[in-house]
Amino acid sequence: MYQVEDRHWWYRGMETITRALLDRFVNNSNLKILDAGCGTGAAMTTYLAEYGMVTGVDLYPQALDFCRKRNAPRLARASVLDLPFASSSFDLVTSFDVLYERAVRSEASALREFFRVLTPKGHLLLRLPAYDWLRGQHDKSVHTNRRYTKGLVKELLEQSGFIVEHLSYANTFLFPLAVAKRLGERVFPPKDFQSDLALNAGVFNTVLKYILASEAPIAAHIGLPFGLSVVAVGRK
Ligand SMILES: C[S@@+](CC[C@H](N)C(=O)[O-])C[C@H]1O[C@@H](n2cnc3c(N)ncnc32)[C@H](O)[C@@H]1O
Repeated sequence: MYQVEDRHWWYRGMETITRALLDRFVNNSNLKILDAGCGTGAAMTTYLAEYGMVTGVDLYPQALDFCRKRNAPRLARASVLDLPFASSSFDLVTSFDVLYERAVRSEASALREFFRVLTPKGHLLLRLPAYDWLRGQHDKSVHTNRRYTKGLVKELLEQSGFIVEHLSYANTFLFPLAVAKRLGERVFPPKDFQSDLALNAGVFNTVLKYILASEAPIAAHIGLPFGLSVVAVGRK
C-alpha cells in the first residue's frame, strides 16, 4: 500500500470521491479527525489534513511505521474495537476499507466505538467493499471477512445509533470490467495470489483515475446504484 497509494488510480480516484463527500457533508477545515485503520498513512497526511487535525489509529505496528515515514504527527496503536480516546473527542471519524477485515470481529462493535468518540452531531465517513458475490483473489490477499451492500451498511449504522445522511455505491463505471475479471479468476485461478492494487496499470493509470474520479459528483449527491464499494456518511 505504501508503495502504490500515492499514485495508483484507485487511491487517487477514491480521494476525489472522498473529498466530494467531505465538502458536501462536513465542509470545515478546523475539525478534530480520527482516521480509524489509517493503514500506511497517505489519506491522513495529505488530503484529510486539509480538513483539520488528524489522528491515525491502526492495529498493526508495521502500518504505523510507514505512517511515521510520512511524518504523521499523531498516531496510536489500537483496535477499532477498543479506541484509546475519551468519549466525544472527534468531530469526524473516517474509516476507509477497514471494518471488512478479519481482524475486526464485529463491525457493530467498531461502529459503536466510532459513535462513542464522536462529538454530538459529529460525522462518520465510511467506505467498505461491496457485494459478497464479488469476492476474488484480491480479497484473499487483503484478509476480507465480508463484503457489504448499501442496505446492510444502513442497518449497521442505524443499529449503532447513527443517522444515515448519505449512502452510495462507488467504482461503478468500471464495474463491468471488475466483474469480468473476478469471474474470469474463478474459471482460470491465478497461480499467485495478488492484490488488485499490486497490478500496474501502466499507461492506463491516468485514464482509470479520471474514470473513477468522474463519479465523484454523482456519488456525493444523487448516489450510484451499484459499484465495487459502498460509501456512507453517518451523523451522531
Ligand atoms: C485495506 S487497509 C486500509 C488502510 C487505509 N484506511 C486506506 O484507505 O488506505 C485496512 C487497514 O485496517 C487495519 N486494521 C485491520 N483490523 C484493524 C483493527 N481491528 N483495528 C484497527 N485497524 C485495523 C489494517 O492494519 C490496515 O492498515
